[in-house]
Amino acid sequence: MDNVIEVKNLRREYTRSQGFLRRKKQTVKAVDGISFSVKRGEIFGLLGQNGAGKTTTIKMLTTLLAPTEGSCKVLGFETFGEEKRIRPRINFIFGGEMGVYRRLSARDNLRYFANLYLLDRKCKEKRIEEILTLVDLKDRADDLAETYSKGMIQRLQIARGLINDPEILFMDEPTVGLDPLGARMLRDVICRLREQGRTVLLTTHYLPEAEELCNRMVIINRGKIVAAGTPEEIKNGSETLEDAYVRLIEGVSV
Ligand SMILES: Nc1ncnc2c1ncn2[C@@H]1O[C@H](COP(=O)(O)OP(=O)(O)OP(=O)(O)O)[C@@H](O)[C@H]1O
Ligand SMILES: [Mg+2]
Repeated sequence: MDNVIEVKNLRREYTRSQGFLRRKKQTVKAVDGISFSVKRGEIFGLLGQNGAGKTTTIKMLTTLLAPTEGSCKVLGFETFGEEKRIRPRINFIFGGEMGVYRRLSARDNLRYFANLYLLDRKCKEKRIEEILTLVDLKDRADDLAETYSKGMIQRLQIARGLINDPEILFMDEPTVGLDPLGARMLRDVICRLREQGRTVLLTTHYLPEAEELCNRMVIINRGKIVAAGTPEEIKNGSETLEDAYVRLIEGVSV
């Protein structure tokens, strides 16, 4: 099976100005030498504490941020330098963010984003109907997005993320802030994406969700990978993934 994501010794530093007249510079190692690969068709999880470096990693993978060092390949191309080869074939959604137009309906939002990808009319309308069905928004597709619940907005964001028929969908905290039923519906949508053979890389703070969805995952702590494997491998004898997670995180912070 081919690797669609290959990350080797990836590092990213941020420099922050501090103190009097902001003259003092402080360097933060947000991602500190991580390596992992993702196979086509996998749902792969990035887990870790707040500030661990998950979003920074996703930003590098989606060509939005240049690595400080290391190799970051998506679909066989470097994310920095060959980004034009990657961008049409991937998409991403950031949880909680308003990535859709509230004054447009779901259908019109999707038409708008389809136009950005220059889809022809026939293909566009067909794909929009398929995606609306996939994310269970068909009944409300012509209502303005401002009348939607948070869960519906999140599903519309996924719909937007599917408009270019991406081979890989990156999702940063897709179920953040959703009630249990909303989160359940969203997980169902993610399972459907897996059935379609798409690759999904997601971050989440909900460990049962990661266990339910992910084929494999890495746990990142302070920019470094502290565990990698299937949920069972990561549990490694612990009763729950949460127990294993706490052990791993506390083990490295003391
Ligand atoms: N633009 C930036 N400038 C300076 N430091 C940053 C910037 N973005 C992130 N950082 C720092 O990099 C580190 C990693 O942040 P990142 O957002 O990748 O973490 P995260 O794992 O996504 O956390 P969360 O779970 O809270 O979303 C943190 O210490 C953060 O403060
Ligand atoms: Mg984040």
